[in-house]
Amino acid sequence: MTQHIFLIGFMGSGKTRWGRVVAENLGRLFLDLDTLVEENEGKTIPEIFSASGEKGFRILEQECLHRLAVMPPAVVATGGGTPCFFDNMDWMKRRGTTIYLKASPETLCERLKNEQHNRPLLKNLDKEELLEFILTRLREREPYYFQADFVIEQTGDEDVFLKRLISAASQ
Ligand code: S3P
Repeated sequence: MTQHIFLIGFMGSGKTRWGRVVAENLGRLFLDLDTLVEENEGKTIPEIFSASGEKGFRILEQECLHRLAVMPPAVVATGGGTPCFFDNMDWMKRRGTTIYLKASPETLCERLKNEQHNRPLLKNLDKEELLEFILTRLREREPYYFQADFVIEQTGDEDVFLKRLISAASQ
């Protein structure tokens, strides 16, 4: 069965950025689940949310996740909510290594404040509301994120972080 490397974590945790780097280091294919959903639907994520709501998006997200079962081993950047719906976390754990890219709420807030336009869950939040939203959602989501095989904390030193990440991904 295909063994993927799944990067999980909150929006803004760097799943796509680091996923590309890890894939290149390990000579693996890189896949971004949000991009697969968008390509499949021919719509952007905000368009899918407006047309079908979050519920509709989650169904499409799970369908695309399940398609990975027949794809060559890849490094997969998941969406921030992917592990928290249906049995997606168990599904991923059965099909590869799961790695939680953990970042502090303040770091996430700093990164997300200029990135709200393409994330429907964040639109219309001011800076204070954004931090509040991150704190609340992290409380709900971390029980799922912490089920990952590895938890890699994002410290100031990116070289150290990358070394830990590659080491987890290589096991
Ligand atoms: C979401 C995260 C997004 C995308 C969608 C919902 C979430 O992915 O799947 O907007 O629920 O956290 P990123 O984590 O890549 O931003």
